[in-house]
Amino acid sequence: MQVWKDYQAKNKDRFLEELLSLLRIPSVSADSRFAADVKTCAEEVKKRLEEAGAENVEVCPTAGHPIVYGEKIINPALPTVLVYGHYDVQPADPLELWDSGPFEPVIKGDNIYARGSADDKGQFYMHVKALEIMTKTDTLPCNLKFMIEGEEEVGSSNLGIFVKANKEKLKADVVLISDTSMISLQDPSLDTGLRGLSYMEVEVTGPNRDLHSGVYGGAVANPATILCQLIASMHDENNHITIPGFYDKVQDLSKEERKALNDAPFDEAEYKKDLGVDELWGEKGYSTIERTGIRPTLEVNGIWGGYTGEGSKTVLPSKAFAKISMRLVPNQDWIEISELFKNHFEKIAPKYVKVKVTTHHGGSPYVTPTDHVAFKAASEAIKATFGKSPIPVRGGGSIPIVALFEKELGLKTILMGFGLDSDNLHSPNEKYGLANFYKGIETIPYFHKYFAELGRTSA
Ligand code: BES
Ligand code: MN
Ligand code: MN
Repeated sequence: MQVWKDYQAKNKDRFLEELLSLLRIPSVSADSRFAADVKTCAEEVKKRLEEAGAENVEVCPTAGHPIVYGEKIINPALPTVLVYGHYDVQPADPLELWDSGPFEPVIKGDNIYARGSADDKGQFYMHVKALEIMTKTDTLPCNLKFMIEGEEEVGSSNLGIFVKANKEKLKADVVLISDTSMISLQDPSLDTGLRGLSYMEVEVTGPNRDLHSGVYGGAVANPATILCQLIASMHDENNHITIPGFYDKVQDLSKEERKALNDAPFDEAEYKKDLGVDELWGEKGYSTIERTGIRPTLEVNGIWGGYTGEGSKTVLPSKAFAKISMRLVPNQDWIEISELFKNHFEKIAPKYVKVKVTTHHGGSPYVTPTDHVAFKAASEAIKATFGKSPIPVRGGGSIPIVALFEKELGLKTILMGFGLDSDNLHSPNEKYGLANFYKGIETIPYFHKYFAELGRTSA
């Protein structure tokens, strides 16, 4: 629509400036030292929603970080889209690996570099600007509700409580999220799923105190060595996970479904080059696309123990630790998988050590219904602005609250993300393409237009 294009062309520099100022707020949800910044960011999001034309905007307190809610109801008879996003970001460390400050956004080449640029400030802000475009040009085709939370990166547990307590307020026809990636701007894609997650921590204790590694080494098991052995034993020679029962509920895809997934463009040489690895790794019998989309995995996120400071210290540590997460696929249940992990880890631990296993958080996997009108609306919207129908792909990441939207609100979710896998999410030098930002703002109004046209989906 020309009015949308014109409005964006006139205001695009301001849109970017606004995003940059949002990126300057270090809204790190995991680290309590940033709690005040998280709150400042919530207030800022509220202000931006109001300026864009949203009504009844509020910063809703929770036991953790606040949730920002706002709405624009034009006609209760029209369909309602609930836009979800998150204004919290991952911690920025290791700081020394950033080329510029994580909270001092800079434009270099075609990208905005800053923590949260792609995940998810740059992406949820496209929805705020799309709202502005539609309200200011008087073209909003349906009702909109916004729920932008501050705890996605730490598991969304308070959002779960909020959703259960506010079912009426959140009543809608579909949830729309831009917090995933596409293959590229040339090959737009739509995610048709998210993996679930089960996040664990293990503690291995050997002797009751750190020991001189010369005096005692050789006579007492080193908990760091034992931890490495335990972790290594959790994959077999085919890189299958060895936890008994782990694969019991995994849904196998048909030959046709697997073929369709593998038809998506994928350049293995380019992938390896981008990551700086000579060979790829993974579960035998599956392609890279399948390994990251439809197969469950187990990863060590962090491992520590003993002396890690400057220089050297000869010590046999008393304890060693690891944070281990598992990505889950339909129909694995994260609580059940966490239990399986715990039981297995306790069982395989040798008598030389004691182990403690705790569950951090988790979430269920999700599959998008590709026959839903909202999926069609998203496909059509992408076609309208990219000139190409999107390729359906299974996303490897997790947004645990999505399964809860279905369970508690009975709502399906559409994942219309505009990032790229190479945006360095959760990593130093996170970036978001300027073209992705603007293309997203251009595409979102079409989603609402087509969704409104395709009609209400629920009574
Ligand atoms: N936006 C990501 C999820 C994502 C990224 C999905 C790319 C698909 C493609 C989200 O912010 C995220 O990082 N989620 C966490 C889970 C959370 C419980 C910490 C994840 O996937 O690790
Ligand atoms: Mn995200
Ligand atoms: Mn994230």
